[in-house]
Amino acid sequence: MNIIRTKDYQNLSRKAANIISAQVILKPDSVLGLATGSSPVGTYQYLVDWYQKGDVDFSRVTTVNLDEYKGLPREHEQSYFYFMRHHLFRHVNLDPARTFLPDGSEMDSAKACADYDRIISGVGGVDLQLLGLGRNGHIGFNEPDSHFASGTHCVRLTASTIEANQRFFDSPDDVPREAYTMGIGTIMRAKKILVVVSGEDKAEALRAVCQGPVTPSMPGSILQFHPDVTIVADAAALSRM
Ligand code: GLP
Repeated sequence: MNIIRTKDYQNLSRKAANIISAQVILKPDSVLGLATGSSPVGTYQYLVDWYQKGDVDFSRVTTVNLDEYKGLPREHEQSYFYFMRHHLFRHVNLDPARTFLPDGSEMDSAKACADYDRIISGVGGVDLQLLGLGRNGHIGFNEPDSHFASGTHCVRLTASTIEANQRFFDSPDDVPREAYTMGIGTIMRAKKILVVVSGEDKAEALRAVCQGPVTPSMPGSILQFHPDVTIVADAAALSRM
């Protein structure tokens, strides 16, 4: 694992955006695996800024997002589709026909997951996967479990994730209890992985992911087995390492 230490969130975001834009410059038809949550917001801001300055061109890029809440249609303000449109898609020249997320409005989980796996294999897999890290070590919505799930699947969110994500909703009761997420197998097949981690509240999870045993009870720990992982983290997130 290649760990890049930055002094703060701003620098972390700039480094991560540099890595993504280098990927797109070197391979203009890249498939980018994208993430939501607060961690990548600054990264997307830099990418938008550099696109507007003419430094990076997304016209041939395809994107596949990690996850989506089950039961939220695209128009819902807390859906991850809405998040991606707000933070990235509508500001850059990505082709809307090549920006993919699991379909949260599809209530048939088996169908939603099979459809999404078909999309991911149809685009040839992921060149660069961007990840955040949950406080409990989750990646995407792969929650701590007894095994590593391979393909896209429907998960029941843990109490800790519902609590962490309730800040975006009017009340904890409004947080969906289930989500569709790309599986660990799909994430691990990405050619490169870029993880952005910020803040003291992630320090213990980051330590466990990098230095603890590889176990499905700490899903991000599987990244120790990936040949090309870069973690960009600020000093607070690295404070336990
Ligand atoms: C969310 C998302 C993850 C994200 C994580 C951390 O639940 N499903 O993809 O990485 O939790 O979010 P944040 O960056 O807001 O801490």
